[in-house]
Amino acid sequence: MRLKSKPWAKPLIAEHPEYVQTDLDPFLPRPGFHHYALEVGTGKGDFIIGKSLQQPQTFFYGIERVTTVIAFALKKVLINKPLNIQLVLGDFAKASFSIADQFFDEIYLNFSDPWPKLRHHKRRLTALGNLQKMTRILKAKGRIFLKTDNLDLFMYSLGNLKQMSYNIIEIQQPYLQVESNDIMTEYESFFRKASEPIYRLIAQKE
Ligand SMILES: C[S@@+](CC[C@H](N)C(=O)[O-])C[C@H]1O[C@@H](n2cnc3c(N)ncnc32)[C@H](O)[C@@H]1O
Repeated sequence: MRLKSKPWAKPLIAEHPEYVQTDLDPFLPRPGFHHYALEVGTGKGDFIIGKSLQQPQTFFYGIERVTTVIAFALKKVLINKPLNIQLVLGDFAKASFSIADQFFDEIYLNFSDPWPKLRHHKRRLTALGNLQKMTRILKAKGRIFLKTDNLDLFMYSLGNLKQMSYNIIEIQQPYLQVESNDIMTEYESFFRKASEPIYRLIAQKE
């Protein structure tokens, strides 16, 4: 997500270590929580905040690598002060080393960067290297939920998930209505307003 950097972003994040950790900090289990979800590329936070209200028994980690973007998410978190959200400033690949095996029940990939050029495909969050990291941190029968407007990224992700022996338990091509157990993201709202098709899949680890 491109955004002009804001001078208030870093100081705001520094004031709130209770809500924002770095990708080097361990992802810790939280007292009273047995169900964990991760959103990779949290953006400005609409999805994670909506999901945290929808699933109060789940603890949500949201990782985002752009400081100003995560600061916007933090501003929204500070309005509701949810007990089940931790934001992580940094990169997924780096952060994955701070996550225990089989920690997460669910991973959400919402409108991930498409990296359209062939030579950049290895940067995609659903490139095999990143999926291997996700597979390690997912529990058995854990699920990856993916939404995108980009059909090429969708088909690429589907192929890689199948190659990694995931069971594809849902494909919506297109994903017409936001389901009651789902939350619209900022990018999704933009594409829906422009009547662009959205694609969604749910994949389950063996
Ligand atoms: C296209 S935006 C979508 C934002 C939001 N998920 C939505 O649907 O509105 C993708 C976001 O993922 C973040 N991102 C991409 N790769 C990442 C990575 N490896 N680790 C953490 N964040 C990442 C980008 O900085 C950007 O904010």
